Amino acid sequence: MPVMQDNQETTAPRIKMRENTLVAGGLPLGRMALMAPEFNTYKSAWNEHIPFAFWLVEQLRPVSIVELGVHTGLSYSAFCQAVKVLHLECKCLGIDTFEGDPHAGVYGPEILRELRSHHDPLYSGFSTLIQDTFDNALEHVANGSIDLLHIDGTHFYESAKNDFEKWLPKVSTRGVVLFHDTQETGHGFGVHRLWSELIQRYPSFEFHHGHGLGVLGVGKDVATPVGLYSACQRQTDLLCVNFFPDWDQGLRWSFRPRKRPN
Ligand SMILES: C[S@@+](CC[C@H](N)C(=O)[O-])C[C@H]1O[C@@H](n2cnc3c(N)ncnc32)[C@H](O)[C@@H]1O
Repeated sequence: MPVMQDNQETTAPRIKMRENTLVAGGLPLGRMALMAPEFNTYKSAWNEHIPFAFWLVEQLRPVSIVELGVHTGLSYSAFCQAVKVLHLECKCLGIDTFEGDPHAGVYGPEILRELRSHHDPLYSGFSTLIQDTFDNALEHVANGSIDLLHIDGTHFYESAKNDFEKWLPKVSTRGVVLFHDTQETGHGFGVHRLWSELIQRYPSFEFHHGHGLGVLGVGKDVATPVGLYSACQRQTDLLCVNFFPDWDQGLRWSFRPRKRPN
């Protein structure tokens, strides 16, 4: 386990082990973020966010995770792995037509077949893959039940907005919503536009690397949102700069605690 010897608190807070948990600058770093992914077969824009996915599940301890847009299953498998390793009482749902879209491209049944060969033996006790449209799948999920929602479907502005608005009622009072590709502006990508609107209304945090990952605290009881997102900020800095040297290229973060709407 890497332990920093640096005593210069200003540039890199001291990282040490305490009760089986890495602690950095007074913040629990947890143990999950350093875990190796069980499923990392594909090169995806999501690879760089996997340690954060592990860390987030450890911090939030969600009882329900839903992903809109699974494709090869990189991000979804990371959420499932964290749930499994932490022995959480958490149901996971991964929804996708598994046919592709204008940005991901069109693909065949072999993608879902390969994902199932990895997913089913490891995660099927608590996780279900649904092959359907996001709109059709709404009926499978109770209102106010999702603690962690990851929106990563078609990336046009209208599509992402539709997904957010239709699924928002399903999110719990402690719910957090993730948006991928918040930093993509070409090829009709419009998540950045939706993101710029939503951060006016909800507390948020955004990673600028890995095509951008937005973290939005939509639930009215998101546990100490400022604390959570402050921790994210420090966490990412520490993880990227100190533990994952490859990540420090182009790493940017921004932190926007916002007044919640009434
Ligand atoms: C960007 S990929 C998801 C990437 C994935 N999260 C990862 O970790 O690599 C987007 C996926 O969303 C699916 N998709 C897009 N719009 C959809 C919709 N309305 N209903 C169901 N699936 C959709 C596509 O089939 C595609 O597999």
